[in-house]
Amino acid sequence: MKKAFNLVLVGGGSTWTPGLLKAMCKRQGSFPIARLVMFDVNAERQRVIGEYAKLLFAEEYPELDFTYTTDKDIAFSDMDFVLCQMRTGGYEMREQDEKIPLSMGVIGQETCGPGGFAYGMRSIRDMIEMVNDVRERSPEAWILNYTNPAAIVADALKHEFPEDDKILNICDQPVNLLRSYGRLLDMNPDEFDPVYFGLNHFGWFTHLYDQKGVDHAPRLKAHIAEHGFIPVDAEQRDQSWLDTYAAVADMLRDFPDYLPNTYLQYYLYPEYKLSKLDASYTRANEVMDGREKRVFDECRQAVAEGTTKNATVIHNDAHGDMIVELAEAIAFNQKRKFIVILQNNGLVENLDDDVMVEVAAEIGINGPRPYGVGKIPTFYKGMIEQQFAYERLTVEAWFEGSYTKALMALTMNRTVVDARKARKVLDALIEANKDFWPELK
Ligand code: NAD
Ligand code: G6P
Ligand code: MN
Repeated sequence: MKKAFNLVLVGGGSTWTPGLLKAMCKRQGSFPIARLVMFDVNAERQRVIGEYAKLLFAEEYPELDFTYTTDKDIAFSDMDFVLCQMRTGGYEMREQDEKIPLSMGVIGQETCGPGGFAYGMRSIRDMIEMVNDVRERSPEAWILNYTNPAAIVADALKHEFPEDDKILNICDQPVNLLRSYGRLLDMNPDEFDPVYFGLNHFGWFTHLYDQKGVDHAPRLKAHIAEHGFIPVDAEQRDQSWLDTYAAVADMLRDFPDYLPNTYLQYYLYPEYKLSKLDASYTRANEVMDGREKRVFDECRQAVAEGTTKNATVIHNDAHGDMIVELAEAIAFNQKRKFIVILQNNGLVENLDDDVMVEVAAEIGINGPRPYGVGKIPTFYKGMIEQQFAYERLTVEAWFEGSYTKALMALTMNRTVVDARKARKVLDALIEANKDFWPELK
């Protein structure tokens, strides 16, 4: 009989929850869960998904002890794993993050540029509170976080909890990309042994080895050069995501060394992206009209029908699978490879030790055993150092309540650059975020 684990899902009302729950059902044989709690600060939002979850588990995971709550004692006591996916300020504030900069001629995006800065400044407080709430009640639990902007959250948590080695930050974009690569090359993505370096939403695949030692990166680059990056059945299918994938071909034409993370488009082509983004209808609107609506409608519909059999809310298997597989890899010491966010400490030889880098690591019961990548070429080093300076200055601005550091952060960001523009955007974001940010003096 395998050991069974207790899990709490922070942000139970997230649009990603149904997919995650489905992944837990799928993997119950290899990763048995004894008790699952969903926790959220928004009871009404969580209730819709929580009622759907009750039905799903009655149908697919009857022995699971499941509950949803807004009570921290119930949520965080006696836990083995905390999976965290919160969004401070909700989609309403994401919309502001995107629209305020766009109205001033600057990229507005969930995690990149001033939008990511604003979101980071909101996330830090709640994330620190969550870790404290967990540690009071479950000092040994693994905290697996993918709350965005993951780069800034990871650096802030490292600053606040430097000795806590059981907080692991991860992003699913590398896995989404690997699945697309697999489809383009007609290979099972699990066959890839990838080499990757960078920061979160700011990295590159250098090699895609298979079990026989063949590197498939050259073949993939040739394929993209000839046919574009048009993955059939991509994990992300909305129009804005398909445009985003298409930009990979542009980046490879200009910088052919490595396969870029899709988010680099905002930093490499800010003017072009700006001309393509619509300040009156942004990705937040697309998500509210699309994913969010679908997920909540379908959960309500399933509850009305008394069965989850007709629900298709599971739109991105890669995300849910990755998170559950990560917990399983730790629980059963599987030493499987994941791409995660860690303190550099020599992994990229010519970057500072305290940079929070994103690299491949073997994950087991003792946590990540990362793979170093040696020295990186000047272009990538320069890009990363500038972006990390932006991230670090953002975190310092939050901890010190410093307006100057915030201004430095935005000026450092490749999507902004001009300090006058940075000040204008910053002042507007301060006004919009007064309920969430520390006062900046
Ligand atoms: P969402 O708004 O649908 O869900 C977030 C939930 O968190 C909401 O129900 C909200 O009420 C709740 N919440 C807000 N503050 C909270 C707090 N302090 N404690 C507990 N719950 C809180 O958003 P979403 O689009 O489903 O995304 C959720 C999060 O996951 C976001 O941060 C998103 O960026 C992140 N995400 C990250 C990755 C990644 O690769 N790193 C992938 C997918 C989603
Ligand atoms: C990718 C990124 C995440 C991001 C998610 C959803 O998976 O890695 O960090 O939150 O996409 O973005 P969306 O715009 O669809 O909400
Ligand atoms: Mn991500």
